[in-house]
Amino acid sequence: MAPRRIRPITDAVALRCDGRAVTAQRDEPIAVALLAAGRTTLTRSVKYHRPRGPTCMAGRCDGCLMRVDGVPSVMTCRARAAPGRVVETQNVIGSAQLDLLEATDWFFPGGLDHHHMFTRFGPVNRAMQAVARRVAGIGRLPDRVAPVVPPERLDAEVLVVGAGVAGLEVATEAARRGMDVLLVDEEPQPGGLLVWQPRSAITDRHANGALAIVGELVARARAAGVRWLPNTCVVGVYDDVALCDAEDGPRLLRFRRIVVATGTHEGAVDAVDADAPAVFGTRAAARLLAYGVLVGDAVVVAGEGAWTRAVAEALRDAGARVEGPHALEALRAVRTRGGRVRGAVLELDGATRTVECDAVVVGPPPSAAYELAAQAGARVVFDGRRFVVQADDEGRTGIARLFAVGACTGRDTVEEALAQARRAATVLAEGGTT
Ligand code: FES
Repeated sequence: MAPRRIRPITDAVALRCDGRAVTAQRDEPIAVALLAAGRTTLTRSVKYHRPRGPTCMAGRCDGCLMRVDGVPSVMTCRARAAPGRVVETQNVIGSAQLDLLEATDWFFPGGLDHHHMFTRFGPVNRAMQAVARRVAGIGRLPDRVAPVVPPERLDAEVLVVGAGVAGLEVATEAARRGMDVLLVDEEPQPGGLLVWQPRSAITDRHANGALAIVGELVARARAAGVRWLPNTCVVGVYDDVALCDAEDGPRLLRFRRIVVATGTHEGAVDAVDADAPAVFGTRAAARLLAYGVLVGDAVVVAGEGAWTRAVAEALRDAGARVEGPHALEALRAVRTRGGRVRGAVLELDGATRTVECDAVVVGPPPSAAYELAAQAGARVVFDGRRFVVQADDEGRTGIARLFAVGACTGRDTVEEALAQARRAATVLAEGGTT
């Protein structure tokens, strides 16, 4: 079986995907609607045209890129379902399920070095380039030239990027000390990962504690006067200005001090074909459950930690037959046929066996989301386990105006993140800059 809805749609809207009608819950991500409609392969890899599907459901992989309303390479895990939206597979000859360009993969089983192919003879090389341009790539240009939208400009004394636990806390404490604070996040609601705490879509019982914490943090932030900007992704920091990509157009945010609290990404998995459609990260599986979609009826879970265990339990609660969670290293390969997951090869107690399943959920250790802080000038260091943003217990990075707090700096527990965020707010209020 493919992913399926376990909670009925309450406010239906109709989309069209590759000419077919798809019913979606209003405002849910388009990728959720497509998965729930039984489509796990949404796109193809750029070079070898291998089947790809949503892995992260958070704008962090490329498994959901499609053409939406004439615009190529839209992350459908971020684009919302609305009446009449037109979604198309891009960069295939045929369909996402049966793409003739997949022949590239068969012709070059040992890999394709396009940098050195046919470079000795100019005309042959030019012909090859023309073919490569048609075969590779990430979609055709948009149907029409988008109008130039002037950026919205906003000022803030303190700009906090990331509305997870650490971001909410530093924003609240700085505002309580009289500072003008703007909090931005790419998600529609504050709370970071806690919002997606693994839950049974039926009972919600796993999420209740987490949602209570989020509710309290958000209430405090509101009471302190923190300004909140959702659906806004900060893509670069240039001196005292942050450039943002938002749903309704670009934004330029000018600040005196910036605090990066971008949290973590889910890591990658080293197993054969672990990039196939219907292999999901634990965070993606939890998000899908929150939207009322179960990733499969028979699910193998491999990964570490409390979050992975909670996801496995929530999947069971929601009606899936769950094998695991097993250690991440136990997952050796994913078996696929016809673009669908058919099984997982597990190595347990020295023996190898294949478990039949229709989805695999993996929970690798998270890695710090250090990109924005690094782009802004912070150092990224190896702390013995992983790379993190270098920041002291007060969140200082050594760069004027730039602070970093929370999990992106290696403060993994809620207590550590909150303590560092509070101290950073004190330094900010006292006028410290580095
Ligand atoms: S970027 Fe959309 S599923 Fe990963």
